[in-house]
Amino acid sequence: LLLTLAIIIVAYLLGSISSAIIVCRMLGLPDPRTTGSNNPGTTNVLRMSNKITAATVLFLDIIKGTIPVWGAYFLQVEPFYLGIIGVAACLGHMYPIFFDFKGGKAVATALGTLLPIGLGLGALLIITWICVAKLTKYSSLAAIVTVSFAPVYVFLLKPLYVYPTLMLSALIIWRHKDNISRLLKGTESKISTK
Ligand code: G3P
Repeated sequence: LLLTLAIIIVAYLLGSISSAIIVCRMLGLPDPRTTGSNNPGTTNVLRMSNKITAATVLFLDIIKGTIPVWGAYFLQVEPFYLGIIGVAACLGHMYPIFFDFKGGKAVATALGTLLPIGLGLGALLIITWICVAKLTKYSSLAAIVTVSFAPVYVFLLKPLYVYPTLMLSALIIWRHKDNISRLLKGTESKISTK
């Protein structure tokens, strides 16, 4: 149990490493929390920078979710706690201890935590996101629809993990509340480069 507790803390700390903020600082770009949508994530970095920078942020935000869950799985941590470890990584991204607890929405990190369940699930999630993003050009809407489907996919593929996935989805939708009100008002910005 001590090992599990340690991994939960490590997952939260890893999640707290906001790659959008760090990458922007390294490139001399403004803080993504005070630019564009004020969200430290891939979409906003794409608005501020270019595809390569955004892809770097996306990759780093995904793996910081995957590493603790995968590590815990190999250390034979019980499935129930694997879910908690995934949630801890996403909470780190949303409320990072290293960045005044002002983080992002954890869409990429949640994908990262779900990837160890299986590549089939990963593919379904990515395809769902891409379809909605292509159709609507809204990254936030694509994320909201994808995380709404995520518990259904998990229920069908690995029902054991449905509760932590439901929790992740609820947290992520909650973090999109400003996006939801902008979408309803028609003022949400579409996916675009600068
Ligand atoms: O991953 C975050 C995305 O769903 C919305 O980003 O910057 O448009 O609020 P943003």
